[in-house]
Amino acid sequence: MTEAEGSIAPAELTCSRLRRIGEGIGRVVYGSQHWVVKRERTPVEVVALILVWKLLRKLPAGLTRRLLERPSKRVRLMRLFTQAGLLVIPMQVWFTSHVREIRKLYRSRDLRGERLTQTYLAGTSLIPRRITFPPTRVKIAGWPGHLTVTEAEERVESTLYQRLATLASAGQFELLEEWLNRFLDLRQQGWQRGLFSVDAHLKNFGVTGDRIVLIDPGGVTDRWEDVEAKLCFEEVVSQPHVQLGLGPVLGGCPEVASRFNARWKALVNASVVWGHWPKPSDSL
Ligand SMILES: Nc1ncnc2c1ncn2[C@@H]1O[C@H](COP(=O)(O)OP(=O)(O)O)[C@@H](O)[C@H]1O
Ligand SMILES: [Mg+2]
Repeated sequence: MTEAEGSIAPAELTCSRLRRIGEGIGRVVYGSQHWVVKRERTPVEVVALILVWKLLRKLPAGLTRRLLERPSKRVRLMRLFTQAGLLVIPMQVWFTSHVREIRKLYRSRDLRGERLTQTYLAGTSLIPRRITFPPTRVKIAGWPGHLTVTEAEERVESTLYQRLATLASAGQFELLEEWLNRFLDLRQQGWQRGLFSVDAHLKNFGVTGDRIVLIDPGGVTDRWEDVEAKLCFEEVVSQPHVQLGLGPVLGGCPEVASRFNARWKALVNASVVWGHWPKPSDSL
């Protein structure tokens, strides 16, 4: 359930042009001071991005790192070139590779996650507040210049990843560790509701006040088979912080990294997650 159903869109969304504040594989996000609206990418954009990521994976690590240092600029440029290529070569040709599989998987995970979070988490502090309103045209920076939206989401202060990186560069490792612990606590609250994120990437979580919220429901599942498959993969990961992209962030504080890894390994495994998981008998 969303609040303020049927009321008009907040004035700050319509009184000025909204800036682009983030993007992922499937969406581009624009923000006013307190709210964000999301634009779903077109299939051509998604395919172009998947191809760019596949290419990046094949490049030498050093070059990929340099390209990703300013991700939005350089990767966006690569995506635009790839997209231009897609326009002259028929989509079917690109879709013959397993790009089609990746896109299908992404979409189905996204739809399922969206449905599950709205069913089980709406109104809780675990996701951003959401409001709906009648179709409203908002101006956005860059293509296509405007969007018609029917909902907006509470704007978080930053992604969890950005917050951790900022704290690390300020040397505030104690605070950083607190956020890491909150992240593990949040995950357990999800498990208790029978939800598990197979894409628990730190850019998919946001920070607002003293809470962490899930900003991207893609990858949230309620199927124990999916959870088991993911946890089976987790078992062989020896340094979860590296897997989460925190290698460089925690480079200056190996003790925090090893404490976090130990907590993660002790929690994110099949027996602990199952211990939290609601069982059919719970509802009797
Ligand atoms: N509520 C929000 N407040 C502030 N930034 C957000 C919010 N939701 C998303 N973003 C930004 O947009 C990025 C992409 O959004 P996301 O929903 O994860 O899209 P995708 O499904 O394409 O990954 C996020 O990583 C974050 O930087
Ligand atoms: Mg995302």
